[in-house]
Amino acid sequence: MRQPRTILLTGGAGFIGSHTCVELLRHGYELIVVDDFSNSTPHVFARVERIAGRRIGAVHDLDIRDRRALSAVFARHPVDAVVHFAARKAVGESTRLPVEYYDTNVGGTTGLLWAMQEHGVHRLVFSSSCSIYGDAGRAPLDEATPARPTNPYAASKWACEQILADVCRRRPEFTVLSLRYFNPVGAHPSGLLGEDPRGTPDNLMPYVAQVAIGRRDRLRVFGADYDTPDGTAIRDYLHVMDTAEAHRVALEHLADGPGMQVFNLGVGAGRSVLDVIAAFEAACGSPIPYQVVARRPGDVTELVADPTAVARAWGWRATRDLADMCQDAWRFQQHNPHGYAGRAQPRAYQGATP
Ligand code: UD1
Repeated sequence: MRQPRTILLTGGAGFIGSHTCVELLRHGYELIVVDDFSNSTPHVFARVERIAGRRIGAVHDLDIRDRRALSAVFARHPVDAVVHFAARKAVGESTRLPVEYYDTNVGGTTGLLWAMQEHGVHRLVFSSSCSIYGDAGRAPLDEATPARPTNPYAASKWACEQILADVCRRRPEFTVLSLRYFNPVGAHPSGLLGEDPRGTPDNLMPYVAQVAIGRRDRLRVFGADYDTPDGTAIRDYLHVMDTAEAHRVALEHLADGPGMQVFNLGVGAGRSVLDVIAAFEAACGSPIPYQVVARRPGDVTELVADPTAVARAWGWRATRDLADMCQDAWRFQQHNPHGYAGRAQPRAYQGATP
């Protein structure tokens, strides 16, 4: 089966999506992006194209649940494979808006499958999450660890994986690679691309970066009474460029054969919240004020990947460490103290769309 060349990225303007665009453009892929810009900005594409030195083929402003619009995209472009990033991803919000989360994340995925089937496209890389493991109570976690999602966001990702696995079982023309991300952080080393959440950041690294630049007074450390060496929770932080490279490698392996495979994407090393603060202080050269507060509801003690399966299957492993992640996040924050300049309305992006 021939290697895919024209890739549709849903959610291609987002944090992981935009970095993956750079990686794929640099490796010669033709890109079609769909995004509704609900948590991203079309400004990102000019930066992606500047770094990569190539143009994105087309950008379509649409909601992944809009089947008619999605089908029209497949009708217009010769898509070989899809990387499906588009989803809602805030764990806390998902507990308040479960219907919205299932609708976008699960409904969006079945809508995408519908359009793919309709247009004879059968190869998909899916964005999954380590959160499906829930509170496994041990580390590191391999892919055989039973899923025990504890919130609607995680449950929506697990539901998608089950649907995709069943579709692959019943329709052998489909190939799906599901990548269970641990904690992607950092930024492109150019300082042009990074994580630019709307409003108050939910996640640790962008929050720390905003404290470092003076946009916020202090970090709140959610719990120092965990059963860990320094009492703060442990995660497996993974550089977003390592994450992006893993998607490029996944595309190269879509031609290996049909069926669904699932891989953890992580470094395989656990770092505490205080480790991240210390690494960021070293990167920015000044102290990060913080205050220990109560645990955040739904947080688990420790989530660390066993990444050996993906290394064995594809030879992919993370090459960047926590210092790189903090230095790159800090460079992006310094160059973009208020994130991507002037959020444009989605339709303002006219760049690459023919
Ligand atoms: C969560 C999800 C993950 C999802 C990601 C995207 C879980 C277990 N993980 O990651 O699947 O893809 O969100 O949004 O549900 N922290 C602080 N202060 C802060 C922010 C965070 O102390 O202001 C701590 C948290 O308590 C946690 C660690 O930093 O221990 C990392 O938090 P965060 O960056 O939000 O990621 P996760 O919750 O691990």
